[in-house]
Amino acid sequence: MVDAARHPNITVKSYTEVKRVEGFIGNFKVLVEEKPRYVNMDRCNGCGACSPVCPIEIPNEFEEGIAPRKAIYIPHAQAVPLRYVIDEEACIHCYKCVDACGKLDAIDFSQQPRQEWLDVGSILVATGFDNFDPSVIKEYGFGRYANVITAMELERINNSAGPTAGRIMRPSDSKFPNKISFIQCVGSRDERYNLYCSGFCCMYTIKNAVQWKQTYPDADITIFYMDIRTPSKGYEEFYRRAREMGIRFIQGRPSIITEDPKTGNLFIQAEDVGLGRTIELESEMVILSTAAIPRVDTDAMGSVLNISRSPDGFFMEYHPKLRPVDSPTDGVFLCGAAQSPKDIPASVAQGSAAASRAARILNADEWEIEPIVAMVWEDRCISAQGKKCGICATKCPYGAILVETGKAAMVTAAKCHGCGGCVAECPHNAITQKHFTDAQVISQLHALLRHEPEKKVLAFMCHWCSYGGADNAGTSHFEYPASQRGLRVMCSARMDSDFIFEAFRLGAGVVLVSGCHPQDCHYITGQRVGAERFEKLTKRLVDMGISPQRFRVEWISAAEGAKYAQVIREMDQTLRQIDPQALKEEIERTRPELERRVRRLPEIPDVALALELAKATS
Ligand code: FES
Repeated sequence: MVDAARHPNITVKSYTEVKRVEGFIGNFKVLVEEKPRYVNMDRCNGCGACSPVCPIEIPNEFEEGIAPRKAIYIPHAQAVPLRYVIDEEACIHCYKCVDACGKLDAIDFSQQPRQEWLDVGSILVATGFDNFDPSVIKEYGFGRYANVITAMELERINNSAGPTAGRIMRPSDSKFPNKISFIQCVGSRDERYNLYCSGFCCMYTIKNAVQWKQTYPDADITIFYMDIRTPSKGYEEFYRRAREMGIRFIQGRPSIITEDPKTGNLFIQAEDVGLGRTIELESEMVILSTAAIPRVDTDAMGSVLNISRSPDGFFMEYHPKLRPVDSPTDGVFLCGAAQSPKDIPASVAQGSAAASRAARILNADEWEIEPIVAMVWEDRCISAQGKKCGICATKCPYGAILVETGKAAMVTAAKCHGCGGCVAECPHNAITQKHFTDAQVISQLHALLRHEPEKKVLAFMCHWCSYGGADNAGTSHFEYPASQRGLRVMCSARMDSDFIFEAFRLGAGVVLVSGCHPQDCHYITGQRVGAERFEKLTKRLVDMGISPQRFRVEWISAAEGAKYAQVIREMDQTLRQIDPQALKEEIERTRPELERRVRRLPEIPDVALALELAKATS
């Protein structure tokens, strides 16, 4: 930390909050607000004369509340920069610190928050994690029983710079506990709280237990676990060493802890899976290995940076396997536990990777972006006519569209990833997508359904998964009927209802829309936008008189070639089971209504051209 603070190319802005981020990759503008610390940074030399005279004592957050701190304090002994700060909420303005500071005259109560815009090429998000509060698990008695503590509290007690100067003592009577138990997975791998595994708790618990046993060989140590997870280099060997040292491992999640109020000792009831029966174990202290959870301000930070969260609440990476340090917003990178719980080696590796990803941008004079981006037809956008709309902006997961009343919607091409969700959702056909314009898709539709459309299985596929699935079916020689006609768009979000209506209007026998599984979509919310649309569309088609078996929605990954082939086989079979005369009548009967639905299509200049061309060539 000291090296970073001293580096000529690094400016550390401590006690500073990111308020707003504008711009795009290579050209971000970041508004930061430095909070008043009421201590002049240039004058304070960190001597510490002010703190002892402060009459206020409140729980010290860094010491997990075990020790107090003053209203004027440094966050911890190794804080960088080593400068005092006044906790405004706790301060009673007695000005004793002012007297103690003397000639340095560093205390300055006139300080105000200071805002500043920074020009930034790329952003690294390393906001870390919070610890799960185990007091919500009533059965473990944390907060009720003094001798039930968290692993983080143990870290502080065990630390020579900590509140007990490294002397292990139990909170109830300051006695040394010789019989201790650790409980794993507190708040993680638990359907009530968090489903995920926090990843590093097994190893830090074993580390704590081994350390303890090395210092106090007679100590009686038990670890209650669900599964011990030791996947990294040297970890399994370390686990083996712990067992050889005599640390007891019991597989089973404790159900309840009770306390003997006289001794403060704790009784743990648990199932011992190895013995196949319930047991009760007495301990002088219990240490809970709590889950790592997303920082409390993750939501706020996510909306400032325009990056979303995965279902576990941590920041979502662009792709879990191929781009694990990139966020979905170009130029913003994730590292450490901000992305998911991880241990120190993994955090260091990811931090280094994120830094080098960011350096690529800073070193480049130009940056190439994908050409498949959205584009607004200004004369069609009703926002330019002073009317309220902005649907496109709400559908864009990248914040690439700016809508101001009186002006046409504006797409920042450098931010657009080309899912096409905005294009399909615009009720005025005022946005198109380069290389996947309505005209191009409609032209393909007309070509695919030119001959005997009622005998065709028309499949809309997203580029990233379903198209890959179809490809996989081909390369793996999974057979499916030749009645299939595939049409690729970038994402299921781009599959406009008008395309489906037009396909049925042209007389397609059955229509499939297929995209990635929800968690696999290449465009954050693309699959969700598509799925919501298809749900409504399924009902609308039935209302229009189209038999439900003629429209199907399937989520197919690139690895699911067999599934793709199976779906097409089933749909072909369905089509064959429909009486041809009844199908013909249904197509004729529903055509006028479908025509009414797609009547807007010829209004779009390039679609009109495409339709004319289609007519001329058929
Ligand atoms: Fe496949 Fe979005 S990319 S559904």
